[in-house]
Amino acid sequence: MTKSAPNPYGFNRPHLLGIEGLSKLELLDLLDRAEANIELGRQPKKKGDLLRGRTQINLFFEASTRTQSSFELAGKRLGADVMNMQVGSSSVKKGETLIDTAVTLNAMNPDVIVVRHNASGAVALLAQKVDCSVVNAGDGSHEHPTQALLDALTIRRHKGRIEGLTVAICGDVAHSRVARSNILLLTALGARVRLIGPSTLVPGAFRDMGLEVTTSMKEGLQDADIVMMLRLQRERMQGSFVPSVREYFRYWGLDEKKLSYAKPDAFVMHPGPMNRGVEIDPAVADGPQSLIREQVEMGVAVRMAVLGAVVHSSGNGGEAL
Ligand code: NCD
Repeated sequence: MTKSAPNPYGFNRPHLLGIEGLSKLELLDLLDRAEANIELGRQPKKKGDLLRGRTQINLFFEASTRTQSSFELAGKRLGADVMNMQVGSSSVKKGETLIDTAVTLNAMNPDVIVVRHNASGAVALLAQKVDCSVVNAGDGSHEHPTQALLDALTIRRHKGRIEGLTVAICGDVAHSRVARSNILLLTALGARVRLIGPSTLVPGAFRDMGLEVTTSMKEGLQDADIVMMLRLQRERMQGSFVPSVREYFRYWGLDEKKLSYAKPDAFVMHPGPMNRGVEIDPAVADGPQSLIREQVEMGVAVRMAVLGAVVHSSGNGGEAL
């Protein structure tokens, strides 16, 4: 990350718990900071020193490969000492475990704790119990702010803007923290967001947020600039939300035919991990319109920006960058 003059309207908070409540200027500031990290990640020597001597703990109550490794690399590229902690989420007294763990870790004086938890609101609760910065790496079906930021960065780099674009978010919106954070961020930056999926997974209540909702891929993908697919989150479903995986693919799986309903220069995104053949055809996932691999690269750049920003926020006694 490069040091520049403090931006009085920029992001200057000790925690990143969600996209909700962040201003357009704060969001753009984080995207601009992330942009500055991309080049560093492409150099043979990738190390900065913004967090040199600092301690980052990745506390994951849910299994995660990509998000945890992305946060780990981001911290290391800023020079921080990074410790990974995997805690079983099946523990009976989850509430107690969460607070106990937080208090114990806090006693080790970390500078930032990155938390993923299967309960919505758990990360905000933890932030109240510790003295250091906290970053939400996904809490239940609530928010996943760094995913939305990395998605926005990827879109902006390919389309040059977010404002005025039509973004179709398809699939399991109901269970998706990625969808929630993306809806908040994209609408804050002036995109038009459409939700597509079976009504069991895309409740009509989203219309109250001013979003277009449809069950038809053909209708929803019309004129879309970005097609954002979501993983079918079977682990969060109780009861039957979809008829069968085969039926699901037939109606809502993104294949080349359905993609042809979108604009010819539309891009395809997916936060991963993908269920190939369920929500997305491998030919599309690996095809020329796919930005899926680039999303992963942008993830590290965004997380570097966020970690640097929270640790150096003026609330932490640091100077805002
Ligand atoms: C997402 C998550 O965990 O919320 N994945 C991720 O961050 N890599 C999306 C998902 O699990 O479907």
